[in-house]
Amino acid sequence: MEKEVIVFRYGHRAYRDERVTSHCCLVARAFGAQKIIIEGPVDKTVKESVDTITDKWGGPFEVVFEPDWRRSLKAIKAQGYRIVHLSMYGLRIQDVSHQLQGFEKVCVVIGSQKVEKEVYAVADHNVSVTTQPHSEIAALTLALDRVFDGKELEKTFSGAKVSIEPQQQGKKLEKV
Ligand SMILES: C[S@@+](CC[C@H](N)C(=O)[O-])C[C@H]1O[C@@H](n2cnc3c(N)ncnc32)[C@H](O)[C@@H]1O
Repeated sequence: MEKEVIVFRYGHRAYRDERVTSHCCLVARAFGAQKIIIEGPVDKTVKESVDTITDKWGGPFEVVFEPDWRRSLKAIKAQGYRIVHLSMYGLRIQDVSHQLQGFEKVCVVIGSQKVEKEVYAVADHNVSVTTQPHSEIAALTLALDRVFDGKELEKTFSGAKVSIEPQQQGKKLEKV
């Protein structure tokens, strides 16, 4: 059975976080998640840019917005997802990877600005990717790679209009 993986973006601020949130969406899609839920009102710029990528490069991948993070995370948990919150204060990912790989349904939570204490309490696992401050994009990338144990690198995307034929030199794009 394919793992069901959702990314939850906590604290998206319209305009200010658009670029970083868009990159979180692109990483979530490329590294195997089926959906990203973004806390806040619908941000059409983010949704349209990511939907355009999914339309061209394939999916399935969904971008949804949710105004109430508490309600959303509780509902996700009730559906059987393990909540994995990424924070530099959490347990080291190299020490918990084996656990994460055993779960069929995972929701990876990433922050933007300061994350409320309650998120740490709702999470089943608070996990750090290095115990150094850096970026939610980098933390998400490595966490998804650990959740999928590297198998996301072999993922194929359905409904793609184009795909890349990898080359040592130059660029080769094939119409599917
Ligand atoms: C730029 S940081 C800001 C964090 C904020 N200053 C705080 O104290 O909550 C935004 C997000 O990046 C992620 N992040 C940054 N460094 C991380 C690390 N070493 N391990 C895991 N996640 C990290 C976390 O999800 C965090 O909420």
